[in-house]
Amino acid sequence: MVTVTATAVANAPTTDDALVVDGARKSFRSIKRSGSWWDHARGKGTRTVDETRAVDDVSLRVRKGEIYGLLGSNGSGKSTLIRLVSTLLLPDAGAVRVFGRDVVTEEAAVKRMINRVSVEAAFFKKLSPMENLIYAARLYDVDPAHARREIVRILNRLGIKTARIGQPLEKMSRGMQQKVAIARALLTSPILLLLDEPTTGLDPRSKKDVQEFILRVRDEHGATIVLTSHDMEESDRLCDRIAFIDGGRLVREDTPLGLKRDYARRHGMGDALPSLEDVFLEVVGRSLGDADYEDDDDKDDKDKTAKHEREEATA
Ligand SMILES: Nc1ncnc2c1ncn2[C@@H]1O[C@H](COP(=O)(O)OP(=O)(O)OP(=O)(O)O)[C@@H](O)[C@H]1O
Ligand SMILES: [Mg+2]
Repeated sequence: MVTVTATAVANAPTTDDALVVDGARKSFRSIKRSGSWWDHARGKGTRTVDETRAVDDVSLRVRKGEIYGLLGSNGSGKSTLIRLVSTLLLPDAGAVRVFGRDVVTEEAAVKRMINRVSVEAAFFKKLSPMENLIYAARLYDVDPAHARREIVRILNRLGIKTARIGQPLEKMSRGMQQKVAIARALLTSPILLLLDEPTTGLDPRSKKDVQEFILRVRDEHGATIVLTSHDMEESDRLCDRIAFIDGGRLVREDTPLGLKRDYARRHGMGDALPSLEDVFLEVVGRSLGDADYEDDDDKDDKDKTAKHEREEATA
């Protein structure tokens, strides 16, 4: 069983709402230049400031113990929203509260209650999963002997054999590394777990291992989970409620069944139900695979964010 640490208990929830997002906004600005360097040297080039509204007036409420899914195309704002909740980014406007604690004014308290797993998880690649996770356990004051047992138990449950736990991480597949990242998030017993595409890039078997584990973490440990995904089937199966995100805005929110029933009723489908994909297509106007918002000029800034996160994770 995952033991709740002293710090987590000291920051026990003060409300049944695990997460409240109230009118949150986040924009990114980037400068676009036109003209050659020589034009710019002569003061003749033009510079325009481009603004991307990554999160645009989002309000939502996640109840304690829920698995809540954020579904949207590439660039729709899911990861930015997760970063706002995990205190990696500051909102431009609005409020975000985790168990009643404000992410801006009570950052330290929020950080103790959450853990985020993202696809660009940072590790010491020459070290083994065990060494990486023991390092993480120390940072969070988890007793090393206890941590050692937990690491083996969690990784075994995720389908990683004990013999692999001592080998360098760089020799493991990306899917296995993703499982180690999930194990690290669970070591510290977060009461709000933020999973940014937890199963992207995993083979079907590994995907299933991780999905089963997510359900178990919620059921056995009462954790609240917010996850992002591009996988409709996964969201349908795992999530109690789903929010469709498009262009930084929350465009529809309901239980998977509620979303499908509403569609079936409006389309006169009788007892038949549509797929979640059909519902998404109707609400958003295109399928989940169609990216609309990605822009090469943002890449540098994204790289900076990834770098910042790597530094954060290894700090
Ligand atoms: N650090 C950043 N600097 C500049 N622009 C950014 C930054 N982070 C995100 N963006 C932009 O904000 C928008 C939302 O990006 P975000 O990463 O939140 O989308 P996403 O829904 O997580 O996409 P994906 O499904 O590809 O992970 C995109 O237009 C993206 O280019
Ligand atoms: Mg993302």
